[in-house]
Amino acid sequence: MSKTGKDSLLGNKIAAGLLAAGLVFWGANRIANSIVPDSAPSSPAIKLIGLAVATVPKVASIGLPSIIPLLASADISKGSAFMAQQCAACHTYVAGGGAGVGPNLYGVLGGPMFGTPGFTYSSAVTAKAKGDWNYDNINAWLADPQKFAPGTAMSYPGIKNTQARADVVAYLRTLSAKPLPLPTAAQVKAASAPSAAPAVASATPAAPPPAPGMKAMFASANVSNGDAFVQQQCAACHTLAKGAGAQVGPDLYGIVGAKSFSQPGFTYSSAVQAKAGKVWTPDLLSQWLTDPQAYAPGTAMSYPGIKDAQTRADVIAYLNQNSGAPVKLP
Ligand code: HEC
Ligand code: HEC
Repeated sequence: MSKTGKDSLLGNKIAAGLLAAGLVFWGANRIANSIVPDSAPSSPAIKLIGLAVATVPKVASIGLPSIIPLLASADISKGSAFMAQQCAACHTYVAGGGAGVGPNLYGVLGGPMFGTPGFTYSSAVTAKAKGDWNYDNINAWLADPQKFAPGTAMSYPGIKNTQARADVVAYLRTLSAKPLPLPTAAQVKAASAPSAAPAVASATPAAPPPAPGMKAMFASANVSNGDAFVQQQCAACHTLAKGAGAQVGPDLYGIVGAKSFSQPGFTYSSAVQAKAGKVWTPDLLSQWLTDPQAYAPGTAMSYPGIKDAQTRADVIAYLNQNSGAPVKLP
């Protein structure tokens, strides 16, 4: 009896070990892939990751350009797309989203530094937690986390492009019940003074990665990546088991191939009613999941969307398997 108990516990441990190894591998892969567009393409992305963990190459010792002069004209939707691609593997950022590898980022700007209750920060950052996140300290943190807090658990090389940093911070600012006020004219003037490094040199935003055909993405979709992503980003609002009932959103069991926005017993927003009754094909789901607010302006699904095509394909492939009647993917 006790022997059997031990054996099955061992089985669990092995399974957990394999799962953890798989997740780490997946994470590293994802980040390596997503770093490519914003960094020097000459060196292999995977090398960057190794360095990010150990010693990150230091940016030239020029002063860090301020994002303050760029905020007023920053592109929030670019910031949102950037975060979906580069941060969402580790962070949730909807209100009430749980911790992933890193803490939930809703309300982080203007809130206490490294102060999310219930998240276990590395000692590297708790030593740096002084006051609240503002436009200057978050600029320095996001430009180079390892320089800001050597040894931090955030294994991310940083956002080297000043305009991209401004876009991300402008988007982070919106993720709050009480957004931090934008800098005053005087603060903008001070930050734009000639002594501050001019932003012009680095203001050219990185070209967006080319959108490869969804068909190819489905062909190489990875169901377990999709599963992990859904658990992290969707399960706060959606159940996934058969007959589990609605939460904030409807149950997603069997959603691929089902009629859109038509589950009995769920009260949809009026925003989606005009779109109801179509069949959720993989392609239509891909459109919805890219940007729910663009697909149905005013929808109650407060989720910025999955900008990365491969991640969308992974998610749809997983949703398709989580069904009594999976459809054939394109
Ligand atoms: C590989 C995983 C990973 C990636 C990718 C990542 N982060 Fe983090 N992030 C973390 C971890 C872990 C921490 C906690 C740091 C610690 O404990 O040392 C953190 C902390 C933070 C904090 C401070 C949170 C607080 O509570 O004060 C901010 C802000 C942040 N990350 C923003 C971002 C943004 C923006 C991106 C994308 C550009 C990003 N992170 C990408 C893992 C990650
Ligand atoms: C903050 C809560 C929230 C999050 C996070 C969220 N959803 Fe939703 N979702 C909703 C709500 C609410 C609706 C109903 C939309 C409406 O009524 O406007 C919905 C609708 C949907 C629908 C249409 C369902 C139907 O009956 O046709 C799908 C598919 C969907 N969500 C998938 C996802 C996936 C996949 C994710 C994660 C990548 C996700 N959602 C994340 C709240 C959420």
